[in-house]
Amino acid sequence: MTGSTLLAARGLTRRYGRGSGLVRAVDEVDLSVPAGQTLAVMGPSGCGKSTLLHLLGGLQRPTGGKVWLAGRRIDMMSERALARLRRDSVGFVFQSFHLMDELTAVENVELSALLAGQSPRRARQRAMHLLDRVGLVDRADHLPSALSGGQRQRVAIARALSNQPLVVLADEPTGNLDSAATLEVLRLFDDLRTAGQTLVVVTHDTRIAAVADRMITMRDGVFVDDSRLASAATGPVHDGRR
Ligand SMILES: Nc1ncnc2c1ncn2[C@@H]1O[C@H](COP(=O)(O)OP(=O)(O)OP(=O)(O)O)[C@@H](O)[C@H]1O
Ligand SMILES: [Mg+2]
Repeated sequence: MTGSTLLAARGLTRRYGRGSGLVRAVDEVDLSVPAGQTLAVMGPSGCGKSTLLHLLGGLQRPTGGKVWLAGRRIDMMSERALARLRRDSVGFVFQSFHLMDELTAVENVELSALLAGQSPRRARQRAMHLLDRVGLVDRADHLPSALSGGQRQRVAIARALSNQPLVVLADEPTGNLDSAATLEVLRLFDDLRTAGQTLVVVTHDTRIAAVADRMITMRDGVFVDDSRLASAATGPVHDGRR
């Protein structure tokens, strides 16, 4: 299920250094992601995947080109407007989870809603709803240290969804997980895709193809392949065992 363009980039560029030390991390890339699309970005280490994700989510500024989110130019935004946009419209998921160790699962999930000014009661209700969605209501009061890697990442995904973001940007979300936990997370992304959540996921895991509508391959800061995937219609993620 895809709709109008949600995320777009033209001539998007991020360079580091100069002269012989110049690195073109992202090199004049054009991209258009329709609302509801699940896009996987793959490519070798150092090809610019994380940089691309950071530019698209307003975590980093481009050195050239333009980025639009929901029709608004974000590359020119003030720091303040950008911070608000990240809080309200973008959900980030990282390889290393980035949960607060001293907060329980439910407290981690509700934190950004509280910071955004929501009432504690509503924030808690919504957090519990999200934990239910990722299959972890019964772990709501656990600290991250008492959760498995896959469970931690599911909490991080629930947190990323807490402000109903326009887009979820995930950077190697299964990079620190074993095979079983990876499948938990892939199933969850499959559910998000079915629910129409726009999702960009950077990954080394070819199984992510099972939950993506489209796959872009990067090399040296440019896109070398952009494919629509047939897997989008094939239903749930399988773990190889029949
Ligand atoms: N702050 C920086 N200063 C200089 N070069 C940088 C900086 N950050 C990233 N780079 C370079 O930009 C390129 C792209 O880095 P990026 O982290 O986007 O790659 P990646 O595809 O995410 O790699 P990985 O799969 O290892 O995470 C790399 O060559 C990297 O060395
Ligand atoms: Mg990276």
